[in-house]
Amino acid sequence: PNAVLGLPTGGTPVGMYENIRKMYQEGKMDFENVTTFNLDEYLGLTHDHPQSYYYFMNQNLYSGVNLKPENINIPSGTASDFEAECKSYDAKIDAKGGIDLMILGIGPNGHIGFNEPAEILSGPTHTVDLTRETIEANARFFDSIDDVPTKAITMGVGSILKAKKILMLVSGASKQKVAKELFSGDVTTNNPSTLLQLHRDVVVLMDEAADGQ
Ligand code: F6R
Repeated sequence: PNAVLGLPTGGTPVGMYENIRKMYQEGKMDFENVTTFNLDEYLGLTHDHPQSYYYFMNQNLYSGVNLKPENINIPSGTASDFEAECKSYDAKIDAKGGIDLMILGIGPNGHIGFNEPAEILSGPTHTVDLTRETIEANARFFDSIDDVPTKAITMGVGSILKAKKILMLVSGASKQKVAKELFSGDVTTNNPSTLLQLHRDVVVLMDEAADGQ
């Protein structure tokens, strides 16, 4: 009842949020004492922008359950000082005793949150340049690819791996290659999701399209 949750946006978790709202309406879930921390947000989009992750979360979860506004956390895409915003986001997570359950999706390039494939990955929350592949993958939610923000603020791989338990949702054929690497036994920053192999409590839920069998 007093869980601290880490939450994703995107196409994959839409059904999960629908079920959560339904279970809440049926009295099977209570968010009175739950705290949420979202993984990421686009830079430059305000809460009322229909493609902002805050807007997505409001539509899919916040407006449908009894979360207290003060227990809702999402990194700000419009902060005046991003360095301070990143530091205070991780500090807020720590002050809550850390994340109990982190729910993740995975990008077609293996990103978790917006930790894109790179030679070096950042541990704490940070701002990031989105890769062309991610901009193309997310263009489906915007009128045109030119409207997709090129930067984001995201929990780092350190913030993610500190969670006590991780649930990863893998959906769609575009995830086949990176999903296979997730179970390869190799850990590489070229596919940030492979770092999850270093965590001791991860559950992966994969659909048949992503499994490719
Ligand atoms: C979103 C996030 C991303 C998505 C990933 C998959 O908050 O952190 O890592 O989980 O891009 O997105 P979908 O589910 O749209 O394929």
